[in-house]
Amino acid sequence: MEILTVETTPIAGQKPGTSGLRKKTKVFMGKHFLENYVQSIFDGIGGVEGKSLVIGGDGRYFNERAIQVILRMAAANGAARAIVGQNGLLSTPAASNLIRGRGTDGGLILSASHNPGGPDEDFGLKYNTPNGGPAPESVTDKIFARTESITEYRIAEAQDVDLATVGETSLGDMAIEVVDPVADYAALMEDLFDFGAIRELFQSGFRVRFDAMHAVTGPYATEILENRLGAPEGSVVNGTPQKDFGGGHPDPNPIWAKDLMDVMMGEDAPDFGAASDGDGDRNMIVGRGLYVTPSDSLALLAAQIHLAPGYSAGLKGVARSMPTSAAVDRVAEVKGVSCYATPTGWKFFGSLLDDGRATICGEESAGTGSDHVREKDGLWAVLLWLNILAKTGKSVADLMAEHWAEYGRNYYSRHDYEAVDAGKATAMMDDLRSRLDSLADQEVQGLTVTEASDFSYTDPVTGDTATKQGIAVHFAGGSRVVFRLSGTGTEGATIRVYLERVETDRTRLQEDTQEALAPIIAAADEIAGLKAHTGREAPDVIT
Ligand code: G1P
Ligand code: ZN
Repeated sequence: MEILTVETTPIAGQKPGTSGLRKKTKVFMGKHFLENYVQSIFDGIGGVEGKSLVIGGDGRYFNERAIQVILRMAAANGAARAIVGQNGLLSTPAASNLIRGRGTDGGLILSASHNPGGPDEDFGLKYNTPNGGPAPESVTDKIFARTESITEYRIAEAQDVDLATVGETSLGDMAIEVVDPVADYAALMEDLFDFGAIRELFQSGFRVRFDAMHAVTGPYATEILENRLGAPEGSVVNGTPQKDFGGGHPDPNPIWAKDLMDVMMGEDAPDFGAASDGDGDRNMIVGRGLYVTPSDSLALLAAQIHLAPGYSAGLKGVARSMPTSAAVDRVAEVKGVSCYATPTGWKFFGSLLDDGRATICGEESAGTGSDHVREKDGLWAVLLWLNILAKTGKSVADLMAEHWAEYGRNYYSRHDYEAVDAGKATAMMDDLRSRLDSLADQEVQGLTVTEASDFSYTDPVTGDTATKQGIAVHFAGGSRVVFRLSGTGTEGATIRVYLERVETDRTRLQEDTQEALAPIIAAADEIAGLKAHTGREAPDVIT
């Protein structure tokens, strides 16, 4: 095997975000781009000599080609072992599990999550640390610095590795283990959940529809739900991963998973509906006739998690991103455990999970997970729901109604203004930031502002700080609005407006969400001058 050292020039401005580096696929396919970035990761983590890495992705266009390049570069850089999912497939939570289970020096995950795939769509690559979680900023900063100074990369000249056959092979001195992407993950799920109870539930005629959205969870859901748990064949739909996700957005929300919504709101709806995203870390939960918001799902799961054998000891604590609704906070309060509010992005949960401070965590953006891995985990959330449904014998709607009756209901919605001129979006946030002090005690649209602040966070374990993580305006009675700029958009700026109203009056628990939030929506516009700053009359996406 010949090793080439190729001269290259730095790739300016390619700063990895909370989810690694995301770019148009064609950018990644450009001359030396992928190679530069991979070498920058290797250099940024102190080299890969003698190290072992997990490598896999969500199967999108360019996934396998990129993996072949990464393998040749890992071998050329002296890596000892690569553990690769068969055909290059690994869901993000399964990759996290393999990194932890096999004790590797981290891993490379190829995905642009819920973004569309294809030659004209998106691609992404991120490095996860040995704890299985996304690299913290201290590491991504080093990777970024390297992208700006890199002058050469190392790559082996070799034939493509056979990734279709499970087993051991090698590339030069580097051992390659091609693994069944599902096996270790499915075994972990069997440890955590009461598969016997869920099997009986399906035997009793309970019907489930899992929409894999033509993405990576297809094989996982088919093996676990149909083969191991006995859900009837066909319970998993769109279960074969496709390079372009069937031309859609593999994003599990009522807009992109409209087919599933239609079925679940229809006459002959199954008992339980769920979907996951491109790389399998997000989830959507729908009961017959009822969509469960991610914030409500988090609260319900936290309240009932003890029903799953892997969590019979109860909660150590809970964590949510700051913009996620406070529904889970009241569960933590009742259970007498700590509740942490972190900045947006899964990486902030890592230290809390590592330190045993939180058992379950979640984000309003359809991410839920626990200390079993260091990524959010779509299928895990689905299985925990099924475990709870099996143990209680109740429907999704009954469980939610009882939950709201006990804890109150947090009406919640997110309004997104997409592809806004970046200058205008920043101006809006800066303007709002400059007026925070004067907002307190003001009356806006009949609501009294109790507090307005720019969210900063100090990690209680590492002491790391993060500032300017979103502006939260609280109103008397527990309602609030949060304004934040997205960190993952690829075009202009995306303004996210998170709206929340707490209702404890039992007679008003079943109102329509947007109607229930109307006063907060009006106050949000008045406070931030959304329409005036953006020139937009309404949000582009409401979830
Ligand atoms: C979005 C979500 C955030 C999630 C991230 C990665 O980030 O809001 O909760 O962690 O995607 O999946 P944003 O675009 O808001 O920065
Ligand atoms: Zn994802």
